[in-house]
Amino acid sequence: MCGIVGILGKSAVAEKVVESLRRLEYRGYDSAGVATLEHGRLEVCRAEGKLKNLEHKLDKHPMGGHSGIGHTRWATHGKPSERNAHPHATKRVAVVHNGIIENFRELKTELEAEGVVFRSDTDTEVVAQLVDRQMLAGKSPVAAVAEVLPRLKGAFALAFLFDREADLMIAARRGSPLAIGYGDGEMFLGSDAIALGPFTDRISYLEEGDWAVLTREGVEVRDESGRIVERPIQKVPAGALLVDKGNHRHFMAKEIYEQPEVIAHTFSHYLDLSAETVALPDLPFDLAEIQHISITACGTALYAGAVAEYWLERFARVPVSTDIASEFRYRETPLTPGGLTIVISQSGETADTLASLRYAKECGQKVLAVVNVPTSTIAREADAVLPILAGPEIGVASTKAFTCQLATLACLSVAIGRAKGLLSQEDEHRLVRAFMEVPRLMTEALKLSPEIEVLSRTLAKARDVLYLGRGTNFPLALEGALKLKEISYIHAEGYAGGELKHGPIALIDETMPVVVIAPHDRIFDKTVSNMEEVAARGGKIILVTDPKGAAQAHVDAVQKLILPEMPATVCPMVYSIPVQLIAYHTAVIMGTDVDQPRNLAKSVTVE
Ligand code: M6R
Repeated sequence: MCGIVGILGKSAVAEKVVESLRRLEYRGYDSAGVATLEHGRLEVCRAEGKLKNLEHKLDKHPMGGHSGIGHTRWATHGKPSERNAHPHATKRVAVVHNGIIENFRELKTELEAEGVVFRSDTDTEVVAQLVDRQMLAGKSPVAAVAEVLPRLKGAFALAFLFDREADLMIAARRGSPLAIGYGDGEMFLGSDAIALGPFTDRISYLEEGDWAVLTREGVEVRDESGRIVERPIQKVPAGALLVDKGNHRHFMAKEIYEQPEVIAHTFSHYLDLSAETVALPDLPFDLAEIQHISITACGTALYAGAVAEYWLERFARVPVSTDIASEFRYRETPLTPGGLTIVISQSGETADTLASLRYAKECGQKVLAVVNVPTSTIAREADAVLPILAGPEIGVASTKAFTCQLATLACLSVAIGRAKGLLSQEDEHRLVRAFMEVPRLMTEALKLSPEIEVLSRTLAKARDVLYLGRGTNFPLALEGALKLKEISYIHAEGYAGGELKHGPIALIDETMPVVVIAPHDRIFDKTVSNMEEVAARGGKIILVTDPKGAAQAHVDAVQKLILPEMPATVCPMVYSIPVQLIAYHTAVIMGTDVDQPRNLAKSVTVE
């Protein structure tokens, strides 16, 4: 994930900006840069690679200026290079950016038609050029940004510094978090509070859709509708500035909310957004040669694998079997040459998954690890690794690791389909465009939180809860049930909708909530029949769907959570958000230890 820093200080800021960027290194990056206002004029220094390269440049050509913004960039549009590093500056404005501007191509075409010449391959430069145009036409910096923000589509965070405006910085949050730090006659901005640790412990957080005008006197925050709003200042204990919960009560909530940002990071790593293609790193085996795939993992990682089974079979037409690692390792499954085993693990240390990896290797399989911790044992022992890049996951209940596993596996499925000649270029472009929309769709899905909090009050009274889904929503139903039971201690089961009448229907009565995960897809009608079966027996349905699904579900006793319409392939990623929020709010109402539920460990390194 990219890192953003901004300082309106009392003395030279360039060194402080770099110090602050260093605290964001954990997010990963491949170039860095700083912009300051030296004698009122914008100056920019950028370098490819690590911060020490930027520091060497700054040693040779020190930058003055008491106002500055800085950035660590993880390449998305355009390769890692100095030319693509942030800040991107015009004569009038410098911008740093985290996230994806989905509609940058249209905006770029429009600007080029007006004669603007671009100096980088990034989506970010479009923002700088748009603001510059507005200022050239006579608008103030604040009016220019106000004009441009509504034109940007996607999930992102932005910070702006303006020529000849030494006491002004503007920040905007749409999908990616931003924290504001309050000093004594100084103001600070950071991707998270950790970045601001050396300067202040007085922090407020921008909320979704907010944008803020900072001066040394303070900050004026406006919400999406342009209304001036107050965001409370919190005193953050020193320890929290190491592993930060942001303004959330629990790590799990923070990790749910950061998904638009982290999944954008994962997709950026595995996609060439400009070419609209999947761009995996080189792997030590030929994807076109894969004859069959076995997926093995535990818990949530297993369910990510179960979703991927549908994608791999659809896009790559390879037979796939998905197995619980503790079963796979002992079952002595015959694995024939030409096979690929995919092991999935957040921690990369799960004992059963590791044993399965070793078994697969003994059987002559190529082993690909999809892990969050790239230095883990599983990553080291596999033939190849695809890191999911979710960042540290602290909550025992896995959330962002799940969706980033899905993002990685979705890219892999498309890559295999393409290598086998089964996906056309147009199919690939269409899928990549759909992937690029996921961060924004997740941001939309997070807006359901207040509604989910209300319905969780009913769920918290239930003894058992059933989750139903079909297709890729079946593994998501399993994941929903796992999430609910592990943190709220309410018994829950996930079933494929079609299995309902083969047993679980006997459980349904008026005390049984049934969560139905059903976007309006080609088998939606079948799910409606399942809902009718539940309603006829008095079961209370919570339907997670889209506007079309909501309009067509004429069934009694249905509460609806409505998400935007989206391509079927991205549904499991976006629908994960309400599923996680249902578990989270229910657990909070039950008063359980959400981040460290009883009897559970984050990493299960024993059998
Ligand atoms: O670290 P891993 O992904 O290998 O862990 C696998 C499971 O232990 C893990 O997903 C577990 O089920 C989580 N607590 C689920 O939220």
